[in-house]
Amino acid sequence: MAQAKMIFPADFLWGTATAAHQVEGNNVNSDWWAWEQGNGRILQNHRSALACNWWEDAEADLDRAAAMGTNAHRLSLEWSRIEPEPSRFDMDALDRYRQILQAMHARGIEPMVTLHHFSNPVWLVEKGDFNSDIVVDYFQRYTAKAVELLGDLVPKWVTINEPYVYVFMRYLNQLFPVGQKHGWLAAREAVRNLLRCHAAAYHAIKAQQPEAQVGIAKNMAVLAARPDGSALDRRWARWLSWLYNESWFEMMADGRLRQPFGRGVIPNLAGTFDFVGVNYYTRFYVRFPPRNGLLEQEWEPGAIVSDGNYGEVYPEGLFWAIKTVLKYDKPIYITENGVPDVADGIRPSYILTHLREIWRAISFCFPVMGYYHWSLVDNFEWDRGWTQRFGLIALDPETQARQLRASGSLYTEICTQNQINSDMAARYAPQLLETMFPGAPPTL
Ligand code: BGC
Repeated sequence: MAQAKMIFPADFLWGTATAAHQVEGNNVNSDWWAWEQGNGRILQNHRSALACNWWEDAEADLDRAAAMGTNAHRLSLEWSRIEPEPSRFDMDALDRYRQILQAMHARGIEPMVTLHHFSNPVWLVEKGDFNSDIVVDYFQRYTAKAVELLGDLVPKWVTINEPYVYVFMRYLNQLFPVGQKHGWLAAREAVRNLLRCHAAAYHAIKAQQPEAQVGIAKNMAVLAARPDGSALDRRWARWLSWLYNESWFEMMADGRLRQPFGRGVIPNLAGTFDFVGVNYYTRFYVRFPPRNGLLEQEWEPGAIVSDGNYGEVYPEGLFWAIKTVLKYDKPIYITENGVPDVADGIRPSYILTHLREIWRAISFCFPVMGYYHWSLVDNFEWDRGWTQRFGLIALDPETQARQLRASGSLYTEICTQNQINSDMAARYAPQLLETMFPGAPPTL
């Protein structure tokens, strides 16, 4: 039977993404571990505990990722394992990361490695971390060590994951481990030091591994005024969207600070990215003055909303995000995209509709080179603990039992066939057939 197909380039990277603290388990030297021990900080007082047991056995999930037909995976290094005390590098931890990276290569899975994904060594927090200039030298040395011992296995590096999410959640919302300072002035300072850390890490990587591709994974979200919003709401939405989605890229591109983060030039920052990593999940409504928080979590009628009121399913926003970063003229990777959906009721259509937007972008010759689905397996979802499940594979953290979700089977078909098609939609998300593949046969 005839099928409508959206075929991806032959060298497209099909991946999944995870972060160290969310999957490794027993991450005892990190600020997140310490934070989790306090009462009432994590929903339902959940703890990361053994997480997905990757420190002991990442290989088992990598087998599953290989069986899915993926050829890429984004993971992060846990700084507090590699440097558990200032200037003491743990060779066993670095060996373990080597094993994991080798296991990926052995399975035909190309690693993309993030150096900072939300967690810090406890000792660094005690020294003031992103509110102290010392963080830049420490981050540079940690990076240099990681590159020295692991660089031959890592073609792509991400320096920092979602700098603004990190700053927002830690300094303004205080839902992430709070360090010595919080509030807006501390947040501003942290942004400047994150930019400095990024620049230092970029050059530390390039000095040892000039051929490496180095970038950032930047969360992008559609921030929009409501359809019936005022002119002021729309102006506010435009400014907030620029601040949230674009200002970091602008500063990284020309090395100049933008207000409200300050003025002047950050030395060696200009041009420090070889690719753009976009983490895209959702759209938020905003209004001026803000009423229910800066980003409202109330949706328009008819919106499809994911578990825990996490967000609205809005695939067109991914196309917008790609278009927004085109001006930097760099390869684009979708370094995260996914949905919390324990019942797997919306994930299949989420995957298909978001990949359709990527395919559409590629058909305009926009340079989208790969897609890393968040996430391979249910993992510890930060302040929301285990209450939100993003995995293509379901996990029971108590027993460590795993089960491939239907969306995992769908992703397997996508990765192995390098396409999305009407037959997949008919079987996994029939409601999409009409809009996504008009004219395709209804049953196959
Ligand atoms: C983060 C992940 C997180 C995911 C889902 C991203 O903001 O990088 O660590 O688990 O979103 O909320």
